Amino acid sequence: MRAKDIRAKAGEEPITMLTAYDAPTARLIDEAGVDIALVGDSVGNTRLGYDSTLPVTVDEVASLTAAVARATEDALVVSDMPFLSFGADADDAIENCGRMLKEANADAVKLECGPHTVELTRRLTEIGVPVQAHLGLTPQRENETGLYRQGTEEESARNLLDLARQHEAAGAFSLVLEHIPANLAESVTEALSIPTIGIGAGPDCDGQVLVVDEVIGLSERTAPFSKRFGDVRGEMKGAIDDYVDAVESGAFPAEEHSHHEDGLDDIY
Ligand code: KIV
Ligand code: NA
Repeated sequence: MRAKDIRAKAGEEPITMLTAYDAPTARLIDEAGVDIALVGDSVGNTRLGYDSTLPVTVDEVASLTAAVARATEDALVVSDMPFLSFGADADDAIENCGRMLKEANADAVKLECGPHTVELTRRLTEIGVPVQAHLGLTPQRENETGLYRQGTEEESARNLLDLARQHEAAGAFSLVLEHIPANLAESVTEALSIPTIGIGAGPDCDGQVLVVDEVIGLSERTAPFSKRFGDVRGEMKGAIDDYVDAVESGAFPAEEHSHHEDGLDDIY
């Protein structure tokens, strides 16, 4: 799967996208035929124990991207560029984004977008780094906006549509829309020729993305617009509790988990 194959799916077939932060999960995602595996900076919350995405580093995303890429054959692997890895100095941004492709084998990068990422999207696309734009709820701007959502009032809705068009014109191959009204997502989807991929943005986007920990039921909480399709957390808890009980009661290890070799009895 390449960025251009995702772009070609707009209006044709629904696009599926999930986050992935490790090789075994990425392999399952790939085998299920998911179109895009996103190494999201949501890993800060889901796996690294931070209470926001802001502390996540370029090194962390690069290392996790490499793990996901090693386990993926067909899915497009997208690295989510962390807070302050882009947006200040363009040359630094290009170096950080380039690392994801050169060192970590990503196929594309995702940027939380605003007016400051239009030119960067153009430059990256020109030099061969496919860009997935991301508008709506942009968690990296939490300190400035308090998790403010772009596009919830008429004026900001126009701004969002405008930014979406600018990023399309700059070469973005797709657009993630996070937590915006479904009717606005529908309008943006109609206005663009690149695919929109929604999370909490209603059913009329060209595709859907969710955080895999919520889908499999590993996370403690699930966002209201998300959906649990499994109970991995319950499975893990059960297995860990059973292990502790088995060791404490002496039931594990049993004879079948041990081995003996001749001549090793009675050595003092
Ligand atoms: O980091 C992430 O998981 C994301 C998705 C919610 C799109 O950006
Ligand atoms: Na993200």
